[in-house]
Amino acid sequence: MEKKIRLGVFGAGRGAYLAAIAANAGFELVALCDISPLMCEHAKRKLGAAGDKITCYSDYDKFLEHDFDAVLIANYATQHAPAAIKALKADKHVMSECMAFFTMGEALELVEAVEQSDRVYYFAENYPYSVRNLEMTRRFRSGEMGKFIYGEAEYIHPTDARERAELTSGPDHWRAWLPITYYCTHSMGPVMRITGTRPVRVNGFVVPHDFDDKNMHGGSIKVDDTMSILMCQMDNGAIVKIMPCAKLRDHGNRVRICGNQGVMEWTQADDKLLRVRKMKYDRAPEEPEHVFYRPQFPAGYQDAGKAGHGGGDYFTSRYFAAAIRGEIEPDINVYQAVDMTSIGILGYRSALEHGTPQEVVDFRDKAAREKFRGDNWNPDPARPCANKPLPSVLGKIDIPPEELAKFRELRAEYEKSLEND
Ligand SMILES: NC(=O)c1ccc[n+]([C@@H]2O[C@H](COP(=O)([O-])OP(=O)(O)OC[C@H]3O[C@@H](n4cnc5c(N)ncnc54)[C@H](O)[C@@H]3O)[C@@H](O)[C@H]2O)c1
Repeated sequence: MEKKIRLGVFGAGRGAYLAAIAANAGFELVALCDISPLMCEHAKRKLGAAGDKITCYSDYDKFLEHDFDAVLIANYATQHAPAAIKALKADKHVMSECMAFFTMGEALELVEAVEQSDRVYYFAENYPYSVRNLEMTRRFRSGEMGKFIYGEAEYIHPTDARERAELTSGPDHWRAWLPITYYCTHSMGPVMRITGTRPVRVNGFVVPHDFDDKNMHGGSIKVDDTMSILMCQMDNGAIVKIMPCAKLRDHGNRVRICGNQGVMEWTQADDKLLRVRKMKYDRAPEEPEHVFYRPQFPAGYQDAGKAGHGGGDYFTSRYFAAAIRGEIEPDINVYQAVDMTSIGILGYRSALEHGTPQEVVDFRDKAAREKFRGDNWNPDPARPCANKPLPSVLGKIDIPPEELAKFRELRAEYEKSLEND
């Protein structure tokens, strides 16, 4: 039997949930770090017998002194890179939640830390591993779709006031102020992994905050949360339309890949089939023009469907474990993490300039990436920088006091429910 990989988890929300799944991939949770005693206690209770064996920390530096092999970084989305860098320096393997970093300067520091370390850095963007995206990857890699020409990928997740109060601890929490383009890897990740291309240029467009949409904002929102588009040119000349986390009146994901010999996409009805179409001049005579079918996970992985995000959550810890054991290179490495994440930051710069093109620098090129050294441009209200962008393209958005009061009420209810859960 293979030796267990001892795991520390930073962030007891999604982090604790992923740790339970990682147990099936050979990880053993030994330590947890969260600043909130409520979250730590809740996570320990939920983990049952495994929870009794773990040590809880509130201080990240002290947590890193604990004797374990690998860390899962699942703290606030805007604070992953500094945590990943510290973990690599403490000789831990790193699996990072999305986004990989929050400023372009951090991207450079992260890449350099990975290059200087002999530990694994794996970016746990999970959407590429949903059953339909795995099948699209298999088909594209077989060559039958031809050359990649055009793609679309959408991530749509509307939330009502109650759900928002569960996800967001208050108006200072990242989900309350992160500009809409930033959370983009769930859309770009699948396109990059299916087609093997990377973005070289991005133009960003944002629909401004909708003050009339009372159902959607839920009292803690200072951003343009309706929708945005990132138009990307890829390194092979293809064009990709990316919709980062949007709050349209819809829910789910969509990926469409157009090659010069065929097209494939998820259908949008509840059955979520895969649709593949090939024209008569591109297909063999016996092949049908249109195929609709429900893909299955690869043989031996049927259990994946029980994990969240279309099964995607099942595979991240498996790829991480395989990279730690030296069986494969990290399936999504730090350079790919930079490509996926930076379009959200650069796309917001573009949107603030009404869609100017921004070069997506390839961080494999040491000279080209130098332009971002020390680049701290960011929209975090608590983090100063030059030419400070605001979280909305409209400027500062004040939350009406009655909405904030309602939000706080819902949040208190949620925290109470955690105590009893
Ligand atoms: N890949 C996906 O499908 C997916 C889905 C949901 C969330 N996420 C990512 O997972 C991460 C965690 O998300 P979440 O939903 O649990 O919400 P969250 O971001 O609110 O939770 C982060 C947790 O980290 C803790 N924390 C933050 N800073 C800390 C510090 N300095 N010291 C100790 N603890 C600290 C918080 O108390 C909280 O419990 C986020 O980065 C988010 O982007 C990914």
